[in-house]
Amino acid sequence: MKHIAIFASGNGSNAGAIIEYFKGHPSVKVALVVTNNPEAGVIKIAHSNKIISAIVSKNALNDPEILGRLLTALNIDLIVLAGFLQLIPAYLLERFPKRIINIHPALLPKHGGKGMYGIKVHESVLTNGDTETGITIHFVNEHYDEGEVILQKATAINAGDTPETVAHKVQLLEHEWLPQTIEKLLQ
Ligand code: GAR
Repeated sequence: MKHIAIFASGNGSNAGAIIEYFKGHPSVKVALVVTNNPEAGVIKIAHSNKIISAIVSKNALNDPEILGRLLTALNIDLIVLAGFLQLIPAYLLERFPKRIINIHPALLPKHGGKGMYGIKVHESVLTNGDTETGITIHFVNEHYDEGEVILQKATAINAGDTPETVAHKVQLLEHEWLPQTIEKLLQ
């Protein structure tokens, strides 16, 4: 069995889609949800699916003796950042080479980097007059929204689109492609 840890700071809709996809899966299990935000919706989702959740302070995240130990104890094979707002510490990058992935709600390298999160990303796409946007799933390195791209999927921007309508289209792509990309990586 391969074990996934999902790191998320927000609503957790992607975490929910991943958890749903791997329910009853023969070889992949969501074993842990990690958040830095005690208010994150993802805690409820983990709880109702009987998945261990950990709320980590910045110190705990950066401490191999705290979060590192938990990941080892749960035999985590892959870390999935699904709207996680903290930078991943070096010890985790070393311990999980090509085993930490992130999803970003735009076609990187456009509209990425520190502070580029949620609705801000879609506002930036519209302000820029882009004709398309989409999702990027990529390996994580020491910089925000960088690292080798694994998959990109695009969707058109239409006249009359607002940040909210773009967010909706992008979210559909995220929920469709993130779980199956994880499954492929773990095969
Ligand atoms: C997702 O759209 C994800 O791509 C984005 O945060 C959202 C989390 O939504 N990540 C970033 O912007 C990373 N820079 P969710 O909590 O509903 O899954």
